[in-house]
Amino acid sequence: MRLTRKQLLAGAGAGALGAAGIYELVDRLTPAPRRAAAPAQPLPPEQHILEGVRSVRDNGVEVLVPPLHHQLVTLELKAGTSAKELRSAQQALEQALASLEARYAPSPTGLGITVGWGLPYLRRYVPKPAARHLPVDRRASKAKGRPVPALLDAIRFPSDPSTTILEQNDAVLLLRSDSLAAVAQGAHELVDKLDFWRQTSIRRGFAGGGFGGGQSLPKRMAMAAGVAGADFIPDSSELFLGFTSTQKANLGPPRIANLETLGYSDGGPGGYFRQGTCMHVSHIFEDLLQWYTLFDHAQRVATLFRPTLEVPSGTLTVRQGPADVATTLQNEHDYRRFHAIGHSASIQTTSRLAADVHGTDGTLYPKGTAVPQRADFNTLDNPFFWSARPGTDGMTSDPAAGVQFVVFNPTSDDFHRNRLAMDGVMPDGTKLPFDPNDRGQGINAVLKTTHRQNFIVPPRRHRSFPLAELL
Ligand code: HEM
Repeated sequence: MRLTRKQLLAGAGAGALGAAGIYELVDRLTPAPRRAAAPAQPLPPEQHILEGVRSVRDNGVEVLVPPLHHQLVTLELKAGTSAKELRSAQQALEQALASLEARYAPSPTGLGITVGWGLPYLRRYVPKPAARHLPVDRRASKAKGRPVPALLDAIRFPSDPSTTILEQNDAVLLLRSDSLAAVAQGAHELVDKLDFWRQTSIRRGFAGGGFGGGQSLPKRMAMAAGVAGADFIPDSSELFLGFTSTQKANLGPPRIANLETLGYSDGGPGGYFRQGTCMHVSHIFEDLLQWYTLFDHAQRVATLFRPTLEVPSGTLTVRQGPADVATTLQNEHDYRRFHAIGHSASIQTTSRLAADVHGTDGTLYPKGTAVPQRADFNTLDNPFFWSARPGTDGMTSDPAAGVQFVVFNPTSDDFHRNRLAMDGVMPDGTKLPFDPNDRGQGINAVLKTTHRQNFIVPPRRHRSFPLAELL
């Protein structure tokens, strides 16, 4: 059944619950995966970790099954800057969060809730305690020879168009669940019902749903919306671009993206932000037609993984274990030989541990272990589901294939290293130059980033208006 744009939008009123229409398609098109209810257990100190994530095997590779529904809301505060006002907002937010957590476990069968805070909030509302407590990035400080904060302003990367908006939101809310109703309930209780902040954008999306065979959600949604290139998407692929993205080996294990685990930071004096992490949020358009018509299967594998890699046609999940990790030297070699680098191979020079590390959590993380925890999801938003600034954000009314990109890294600098490597800027400073939109620069030729911002995600104990209690 192909939904008209009018039907798609009809369900898309700005109010959280009212707006469920467009993504109710998700429930109509794909039943929620079978999953055991997450047992009640004490909540982890980390806000960004989802519990009870199921894994499946595809092409012999272990793959983590992401939640079906995702919603991200960016926010600006309406609250005044007085300590009294901030503390009452802090209590109200904490009560709302605790009330949801009493009903939903932090798992796909429940509701994953993550609250992040931007530099505008820290600079305007809590500048003094922030100057004292914001964590420093030890590795980046050593490399730069001066103190570098763990949370940095977002930057434009070499492959970003000059139009990429570096956003200035005070806060961000990420909601993840297999249940659309749970996501809508979360947004309703944490946004509509709280008056100390207002939403600046709503971003919605979905992932997976094809691991049991049959058509995946991205395929069905793209077909229903009629986006160009949807016909070419492999039926059961996890994402629009066809290849599986959430294999266990290329996602950071539970606590590795905490600020303190790998020693990149101590979480701030007194450990205020220990068990917290840094979050990057960006919106990326994907040109599906170009990807599937100008790149054949072998070229898509070479571009997404590595120019020297060959896998049988129809393969969606390609093993990327510790032994498959590409080095800087291998990327330089590929560049000289093919004038091309792979998306994964280039990023792996910064996203995988170069040596064994004993984490502060007592875990031994072997060489080749991934660090970033991606939580990105496909979307038809263009570029957002809703925006308080439609003109500035370039809102248009046609569905467009894209990714609401979300990733947790120990520090912003760690994310910047990943993203620079994706553009051919290697961790040793070697630059592998490419012309803009060069099809040799990984998948960048079919991507266009429209918005970016970095946030800090405090530990659960300090997630509501962090540092306001110290004013
Ligand atoms: C629309 C945009 C994107 C798509 C469709 C995409 C797709 C993928 C896919 C399919 C993989 C899995 C390949 C494998 O198994 O190794 C992957 C890996 C990865 N991607 Fe992306 N990606 C996108 C953007 C980004 C961006 C902007 C970043 C930011 C740095 C990023 C970071 C990563 C990382 C860290 C990995 C894992 C690399 C590893 O350690 O093996 N991706 N991506």
